[in-house]
Amino acid sequence: MADHLAALVADYGRPEHVIRLAKRPRPAPEPGMVEIAVERAAINPSDLIPVTGAYSNRTVLPFVPGFEGVGTVSRVGAGVTGLKPGDRVLPLGTSGLWQTYLQRPAEWCFTVPNDLSIEQAATAYINPMTTLRLIAALKDHFGGSSGLAGRRIGVTAAGSAIGRMLLMALTSEGAEVTAIVRSEGAAARLPPLPGLQTRVTGQQPIGRDIVFDAVADAVGGDAGDGLLRDNLPAGGVFLQYGALSGRPIAQGAISARADVRFAFLWLRSFVHSAGRQALASALAQCFDGVREGTLASGIAATYPLSRLSEAIAHQNAPDRRGKVLIDPRC
Ligand SMILES: NC(=O)c1ccc[n+]([C@@H]2O[C@H](COP(=O)([O-])OP(=O)(O)OC[C@H]3O[C@@H](n4cnc5c(N)ncnc54)[C@H](OP(=O)(O)O)[C@@H]3O)[C@@H](O)[C@H]2O)c1
Repeated sequence: MADHLAALVADYGRPEHVIRLAKRPRPAPEPGMVEIAVERAAINPSDLIPVTGAYSNRTVLPFVPGFEGVGTVSRVGAGVTGLKPGDRVLPLGTSGLWQTYLQRPAEWCFTVPNDLSIEQAATAYINPMTTLRLIAALKDHFGGSSGLAGRRIGVTAAGSAIGRMLLMALTSEGAEVTAIVRSEGAAARLPPLPGLQTRVTGQQPIGRDIVFDAVADAVGGDAGDGLLRDNLPAGGVFLQYGALSGRPIAQGAISARADVRFAFLWLRSFVHSAGRQALASALAQCFDGVREGTLASGIAATYPLSRLSEAIAHQNAPDRRGKVLIDPRC
């Protein structure tokens, strides 16, 4: 049985300390399984968080990180009918993309249109689909498809990949959008969008002089607590989908605003409950948005898997611009 290369987490800790490269066996696919030769995988914040042990209740050691990537079917197990060697697929639903070959059940693999570049395909899932879920949640809250026009919406970490996608989607819906960023440099890099307001806050609360009907927050911590406490009227909505500060919104801050709808939005919950048809339809929307550019990510660099430590250092670099990708074939 041939070996292949994988990034392996055997202990929790800082990603740069605990993720090791290892040779792994490459067994033949079991019935119903598909083996994928991974061609590009993304590094997202959500890949590194489980490595720290943050979700140890639902993570089994050892594991291979990487929730997002694209590859070509290399072998199929008995009973697989919808996929064949050579098909380009996105495997969904679990980590494991940071290795040369990944096995997934066929029903969790989705074909990727050939017109998408490999970089587009490798970044077409996590952030685009999360953006679509956030927009759907906001529309639900405000009652239907025209509900976002004129709404005052704050977007934190607005320079992140999802932040930028949200700014584009929300301004195109006619919302009054405020991009909240931590530095003047981040503000300068925001896309020029009609009516977009910008606030630079450092890591501090934004101040009491601005009111939002809705906040999409990926930062949490003191800044997020402050937004929930001071900047939403009764009937507003606060969606938390990340904790880049290292701390989610405090329970006390949530309890103190019983008049605001507070919700966590996790893509994972949608992916594991939606069913294959809804996922295929959501992915089709993602592919369209990637093609149009509204759900596209910039690419900072691509590293061979053999240089994973450099890729992770780049991911953590303060001057990173765009997604860091891994090529697991070398
Ligand atoms: N809920 C879900 O299911 C889900 C799915 C996907 C992603 N997420 C979350 O969404 C967030 C963004 O992901 P992404 O892939 O879009 O990120 P990304 O493109 O890697 O961008 C992260 C950017 O956020 C900014 N940032 C980092 N720490 C910050 C802080 N403490 N305060 C303010 N800004 C900060 C930095 O930009 P500047 O240097 O320009 O300030 C950084 O480059 C992450 O928290 C991720 O975990 C959640």
